[in-house]
Amino acid sequence: MTEKHYLIQEDTAQKKIDLEVMKPVQGPLAVDVTKLYRDQGILTYDPGFMSTASCESSITYIDGEAGVLEYRGYPIEQLAKQADYLEVAYLLLYGELPNRSQLLEFDHIITHHTMLNENLKDFFGGFHYDAHPMAIMVGVVGSLSAFYHDSLDINNPRHREISAHRLIAKMPTIAAASYKHNISEPIVYPDNDLSYCANLLQMMFATPCEQYQPNPLAVEAINLLFILHADHEQNASTSTVRLAGSSQANPFACIAAGIASLWGPAHGGANEAVLNMLTEIGDLSNIDKYIAKAKDKKDPFRLMGFGHRVYKYYDPRANILREMCTKVLNELADSNNPMFELALKLEEIALKDEYFLQRKLYPNVDFYSGIIYRALNIPNNMFTVMFAIARTVGWVSHWLEMMSDPLQRIGRPRQIYMGSPRRDFVPLDERS
Ligand code: ACO
Repeated sequence: MTEKHYLIQEDTAQKKIDLEVMKPVQGPLAVDVTKLYRDQGILTYDPGFMSTASCESSITYIDGEAGVLEYRGYPIEQLAKQADYLEVAYLLLYGELPNRSQLLEFDHIITHHTMLNENLKDFFGGFHYDAHPMAIMVGVVGSLSAFYHDSLDINNPRHREISAHRLIAKMPTIAAASYKHNISEPIVYPDNDLSYCANLLQMMFATPCEQYQPNPLAVEAINLLFILHADHEQNASTSTVRLAGSSQANPFACIAAGIASLWGPAHGGANEAVLNMLTEIGDLSNIDKYIAKAKDKKDPFRLMGFGHRVYKYYDPRANILREMCTKVLNELADSNNPMFELALKLEEIALKDEYFLQRKLYPNVDFYSGIIYRALNIPNNMFTVMFAIARTVGWVSHWLEMMSDPLQRIGRPRQIYMGSPRRDFVPLDERS
């Protein structure tokens, strides 16, 4: 919905420019600058996209000042309490909560797409034994495009839907196989009698000689973590998926690009980085030293799991996870877990510190997710992989939304050129 009559002053030419203002259903107004360059020859400059909305979207709403997160209008707190991950996946993909028969059908489809092509399994053997599972994920997910030529027509809505189902279904299988490769154990096949989350645990922890019974609280915790990580509007990895997709690349290649972007410690890699940081701090007596390091501008160290580009108030997902963290540690791990004690003390000190208060740096979702995964015996290098499994439905929903948008065109930012002005080529023997 747009309204005309917004004016800005353009200094050099001393003229006023009419720009349209877009009014969202919720959230701040946005100035539409799409015709600014065409009509006025002026670019906008916004490194890091601090003030830029890159698209219209109907999937997820965040109010960072108020700590609000909604999927398709439903508050995250309600979904976290009452929904199953596949129900939320359906909601993100199709826009509405499924009724019972729609959910059964969706569950059936996802369950029956979990197997990998036998030839794909050979890819894992090509990786060094100690390859990081995220490196394997980037490669293997990208390679799926070499297996599904039957459904790669991105202009065919049914093909797009089949690819979406395949990606959501196969991610846990690929993730578990990456882990098995990393610990030199044989790949375990999916079990169609298990739920999405229980099946993932089974594929990670069963062996051909020993069955594995997933613990119900572990399944509940994974279900919750996956719901909380399922989508987060135009974050770095989702924007990467959209940008890759805008060139009409196939969905498997786009999701591989998203996984690569997620890997960084400023984004999804933070959950692994939090545990590494807690290990490095080691003891309550070292906390003050590390808080001082985080505040020192000459020191690159940051408190991992703190701060967020959008949330300038407590991350609502962190609130929900804090409760689950206590439950899991009490019931599944040593209740005197020193890691959690350290994390709570760090949180307590940071939340009182002027530096963090002034900059509105609160714990984010990944401050707790790593601690829970650790209590479930999931190794540190798999934390970001778990995030990638959960976020696949978000990436795919945004890709589907973008591909069905008639206004969709290639994403192509411009730049402010600051290099050398034009100069003539100097032959090699004339250069000083
Ligand atoms: N520790 C110490 N200082 C911090 C931290 C931190 N974790 N985060 C931000 N700051 C400081 C910055 O140094 C800066 O200070 P200044 O104004 O004095 O220069 C100020 O807070 C603003 O920080 P920016 O880097 O400008 O904020 P931005 O929005 O670009 O970054 C980010 C957000 C990347 C999440 C950042 O807070 C960070 O690096 N956090 C740690 C990594 C992390 O937990 N990432 C996970 C995010 S959640 C997710 O992706 C699922």
